[in-house]
Amino acid sequence: MLGGLLKNSSFLSWVDNKKHIPLQKINNSFKLNIIYLAIMVNYKDLGLVNTREMFAKAVDGGYAIPAFNFNNMEQLQAIIKACAETKSPVILQVSSGARKYANQTLLRYMAEGAVEYAKELGWEHPQICLHLDHGDTFELCKSCVDFGFSSVMIDGSSLPYEENIALTKKVVEYAHQFDVTVEAELGVLAGVEDDVVAEESHYTKPEEVIDFATRSGCDSLAISIGTSHGAYKFKPEQCTRDPQTGRLVPPPLAFDVLAEIEKKLPGFPIVLHGSSSVPQEYVDIINANGGNMPDAVGVPEEQLRRAAKSAVCKINIDSDSRLAFTAAVRKVLAEKPGEFDPRKYCGPARDEMVKLYKHKIIEVLGSDGKAE
Ligand code: G3H
Ligand code: 13P
Ligand code: ZN
Repeated sequence: MLGGLLKNSSFLSWVDNKKHIPLQKINNSFKLNIIYLAIMVNYKDLGLVNTREMFAKAVDGGYAIPAFNFNNMEQLQAIIKACAETKSPVILQVSSGARKYANQTLLRYMAEGAVEYAKELGWEHPQICLHLDHGDTFELCKSCVDFGFSSVMIDGSSLPYEENIALTKKVVEYAHQFDVTVEAELGVLAGVEDDVVAEESHYTKPEEVIDFATRSGCDSLAISIGTSHGAYKFKPEQCTRDPQTGRLVPPPLAFDVLAEIEKKLPGFPIVLHGSSSVPQEYVDIINANGGNMPDAVGVPEEQLRRAAKSAVCKINIDSDSRLAFTAAVRKVLAEKPGEFDPRKYCGPARDEMVKLYKHKIIEVLGSDGKAE
């Protein structure tokens, strides 16, 4: 049916052959479609950007774009403040867990607000991408494309190879119509990815990447080279122990696999998930103030620095921000047990996250000054 939606201050109506049909007079499923069309929005109208140009520059310049997850206002404020102060492009990531926790509509408007906040902080040309992290169905990716995301990840890594390609291709075909970029994943990361738990990691097979990228049409590829999600990335038996500190020393990432992948797909944007370093100073503060995180361990920062200089142009960090937040909150509440104003502990937590994000941008990823 051809027609158009008419919206004025007092009512919504469907105009068909010059007849105005008030919404109350049309059937419910058609009404829902009209409402859906009315609230659809393209990310370009929100001042967001997709990852295409960000990644091309990062690959050329030998640095990586930070991809920080957010679930709440303080994390978002801290990310934007850190990026505005360092003029770093940024990918704001929303997981499906975050959508459930914070409400998808609210998160989308928060990202729109983030662009304005960045400008208010004096960042003239903010380069902010709003990205779905670990999308697991076509429908979820479509809904994000329709509601203003500029990039989506379809994570078919737990599916058989051909099914992963087919699902990724379907998302790519839809997303590219709106110039939304698509990240795919090949290989399995150990740990928890939303509701998917994998005991073992399976490195990405370099011999599959050309076929996968070509047939799926994805814009970037998340690979598995030994990173994993969360604050316990390596089991004690995979590590050695520093005799001086007693801390776990993790095994190195599989840089040989990364090099093979880079050789097969020169210049193609590669993504590293599970890239928190689990700073031991936060773990210590948490443990000293009522927490219990024994043997929490992450990916050493020098390995991430090395990865950022190669084909890796997006590095995902979520757990480190959670640790910074938790350490600061525990410290305030332990020192001031009578405190009950959330601003008095969320404020210091926000300041600590700004410090953390700036450190990652300047000292690890090298993305500072790349979005003047
Ligand atoms: O991939 C995992 C991200 O850290 C998101 O975590 O699913 O708990 O929001 P989440
Ligand atoms: P971390 O748990 O290492 O922060 O990884 C986050 C991530 O990969 C989000 O997709
Ligand atoms: Zn991830």
